[in-house]
Amino acid sequence: MINVAILGFGTVGSGVAEVIHQNHDLIARYLGEEVSLKYILDVHDFPNSLFGDRVIHDFSIIEQDPDVDVVVETIGGARIALEFTRRALMAGKSVVTSNKELVATHGCELLRIAEEKRVSYLFEASVGGGIPVIRPMKQCLAANEIEEIYGILNGTTNYILTRMIEGALSFEEALKEAQEKGYAERDPSADIEGADACRKIAILSSLATGWYIAPEQIPTEGITGITLQDVDFAKQVDRKIKLLGRMIRREDGMVCAYVAPHLVRADTPLANVVGVFNGIQIRGNAVGDVMFYGQGAGKMATASAVVADVLDAAKHKNEQTHPFWTEAEGNLVYSLEEVKTRWYVRTAAAIAMPEGCIALSEQTSETTAFLTEEALSEQELLARLPQGMAQVHYRVLD
Ligand code: HSE
Repeated sequence: MINVAILGFGTVGSGVAEVIHQNHDLIARYLGEEVSLKYILDVHDFPNSLFGDRVIHDFSIIEQDPDVDVVVETIGGARIALEFTRRALMAGKSVVTSNKELVATHGCELLRIAEEKRVSYLFEASVGGGIPVIRPMKQCLAANEIEEIYGILNGTTNYILTRMIEGALSFEEALKEAQEKGYAERDPSADIEGADACRKIAILSSLATGWYIAPEQIPTEGITGITLQDVDFAKQVDRKIKLLGRMIRREDGMVCAYVAPHLVRADTPLANVVGVFNGIQIRGNAVGDVMFYGQGAGKMATASAVVADVLDAAKHKNEQTHPFWTEAEGNLVYSLEEVKTRWYVRTAAAIAMPEGCIALSEQTSETTAFLTEEALSEQELLARLPQGMAQVHYRVLD
C-alpha cells in the first residue's frame, strides 16, 4: 500500500484525489499495490466532499506519519509550500508537485535534499499541465544535446491572443472573457506579463542543460502591449502573434532563455496551437524537432501528470533519484542582445521607414508598421529608429 497526502485541496489537489479514486483499480494493477489517499491538508474543511474525512489542518501529522510515502504539494507559491516541501523531503517522503514557481525558484535546493534523503522530487505537471514533456525530455531524449526549445507555455495568454486573432476582440475584451471562463485569474499579471511562461522555460532550460537557470536570468515580456493593429499587420504577412518561451544553446554550451511575443508563420504547427492549449517544440542534435501538444492547464489534465509522478515515486521507493540540475559554476547564460532576429515594428507616428524594411501598410499620420529584412539585435534595431518615439517591436520567428 502506498499512502499519499495532498497539501492544498484546490483545483489541482482535488483533481488528484479524483484521479486516484476513479482509477484506483488500474493504478493498483500498474503498481502491483494500492494507492490510498490518507490525508488532505488544507485550512478549510470539506464536509460535502467524498474525501472530507481525510482533511487535517496540521502538517506535522503528515510529517511524523511513517506510513506516508508520497506528499503531493498543490498549495502553490513559494512560501508555505517551500517549508512543507523541505520538511516532507527531510522526513524521507517523496514529493510531487505542479508548482512551477517553487520548482523554478527553489528546485536546486529541493532536488539536493531529495538526493540526500534518497527520495524523489518530481514535477511533471509544472510545465505544460497534462502534457508529458519533462519525463520524455529527460528519458526519451536523453541521448541528445538539446539545442533549442521554443513553445507556447501559457494557456491563458494563448487564449487571449487566439480570441484577438480569430474573434477580433481587443486585448481588454479577450482578457475579460478569459476571466469569465475561469482561464485567467482575477489578478492575471503572472500570465499576461509572462512570469508564468518564464518559470516554465526556466525549468525546461535547467532540465536541458543540467544547470540551474534562474527566472531572473530570463528576460521576460508579456502580451499587454499587443493590439488588434499588430494582429492585423501580422496577418498581412501570413503570421500570427504568439507568446513564446525560448531557450537557445550556443555551440560553446552557453544558453540564452527568454519570453517574448513573436510573429510566427501561420502555416506552422505552433501557430495552430490555439485556445488554452500549449505546444512545445524541442530540437535535439540527434532526433531533430519533436513537438509536445495538449492541455497545458485544467484540473484533471494537470492531476493526470501529478498522479503519474506519484506512481513513479512509488515505483522507485527508497531509490536515489538522479538530480535533474545543480548550481552552475560560473555564468552559463549569454545575453539576449546576441540573439539576432528579424523584427516587426509599429510606431505611434509616421516615420521614414529605415532602409532594408518591408512596409506592412499604407503609411498614415498615426502609424508606420514594417518588418526588417535583416536579422538584428534589439540594440541594432533601436539605433535605426527615431530616438524617443513610442513604438512596439516584436521578434519574427523564421
Ligand atoms: N496560468 C497557467 C496557464 C496555468 O494559463 O497556462 C498552468 O500553469
